[in-house]
Amino acid sequence: MQTSRNLGIGIVGCGRIADLQCLGYLDHPAARIVATCDLDGDLAARRRDQWKAERAYTRLDDLLADARVDAVEILTPHDLHADQAVIALEAGKHVSLQKPPTRSLAELDRIAEAARASDRVVRVFENFAHYPPHRKARQLVAEGAIGTPLSVRVKTALGRPSDGWSVPMQSQAWRIDRGRCGGGALTFDHGYHCFHMGQFFFPCEIERVHAFIHWTQLGDGAWLDGPSLVSWKYAGDTPARYGSWETMTSVGMRVRSDYYVSDDRIEVHGSEGILWVNRCTGRLLDEPALVVYRDGETRAFHDLETDWASSFRIGGEDFVACLVEGRQPSQTLGEARKTLAFALAAGLSADQSREVAIAEIENAAPGLSSTCESAAGH
Ligand SMILES: NC(=O)c1ccc[n+]([C@@H]2O[C@H](COP(=O)([O-])OP(=O)(O)OC[C@H]3O[C@@H](n4cnc5c(N)ncnc54)[C@H](O)[C@@H]3O)[C@@H](O)[C@H]2O)c1
Repeated sequence: MQTSRNLGIGIVGCGRIADLQCLGYLDHPAARIVATCDLDGDLAARRRDQWKAERAYTRLDDLLADARVDAVEILTPHDLHADQAVIALEAGKHVSLQKPPTRSLAELDRIAEAARASDRVVRVFENFAHYPPHRKARQLVAEGAIGTPLSVRVKTALGRPSDGWSVPMQSQAWRIDRGRCGGGALTFDHGYHCFHMGQFFFPCEIERVHAFIHWTQLGDGAWLDGPSLVSWKYAGDTPARYGSWETMTSVGMRVRSDYYVSDDRIEVHGSEGILWVNRCTGRLLDEPALVVYRDGETRAFHDLETDWASSFRIGGEDFVACLVEGRQPSQTLGEARKTLAFALAAGLSADQSREVAIAEIENAAPGLSSTCESAAGH
């Protein structure tokens, strides 16, 4: 348990998402960003000044040797995550690792091994799980607002690229390299959020997955995935439960957004009613963020915090609280392993044009399951 009121955070990777990831630590009474690290020394120095940190590094080893750093926030391309998390743990630092945690279960298992040997905390940061409308929806489902939950449907819409945030080319390049990303920029990188949402609203294991993913080769090793349609079956037959996630790009459609030009909508269907979360990253629809239908009546929630950035602030604060209070983080490595297996099953299904059982993915890399917590931590 961290007892200091001044938990020192080191930010590793100072690119696009660091703009939001810093929000949980800036002005936090118990934590502060003490150091930055990026291969691009000018960027690391700019972030140091912006966040009033003390040091800027270009080598992770140097940041890890800095005794002011208690915990690292890893915000780098996915092919670096496993090695960086392992050496951070070996250096005695706590780790917050951006989703998707790794490209494979074997890489994730290496991190779990290092975590066990170190007694430090590792959490995987998936911000949709901290988005207030999603959290309220999950609470309502748990309270029985829609009866027995039966299905989850997620819909991702991408719009006209000229709107929203400007995303530098170098931030895109590693994502469309399937080897570096671990899968598709849409169906693996963004997909990790949506697969997690398939697991988030009620604690049922995913059993089988089927996916159509349209891949377009853009160049040597460069691929873009989409449109796509993924469906899955939850374990058990009474009741039978299914879920689905669809992603569409409408290059001429304006998506109002202060961030990426995409939005995600979720429908959770139950035995007594239906619940909709109508927005997330953007503001595609002018609808209340959360609506519940039951007994012929709709109830709309207008008073929730809906800015997508709030999920990053709340998620950062949650990591600090875990370290200060000594409690479990919201996505442990065991939970993340289930989400990653789900994402990998979808990729394999699309590649091989067949349904894939989650057990097939897990059995191919059996290293971690016995040492991990179950998804019951919902
Ligand atoms: N939660 C979300 O919604 C969300 C959104 C975007 C990105 N992400 C995740 O955040 C991570 C970073 O994404 P991004 O969009 O900010 O990428 P980015 O490319 O904009 O930034 C990555 C940064 O890492 C730096 N870097 C590369 N190698 C390094 C090394 N060896 N040591 C230190 N720094 C190094 C790069 O110079 C770059 O500045 C990824 O895991 C991504 O999936 C999450």
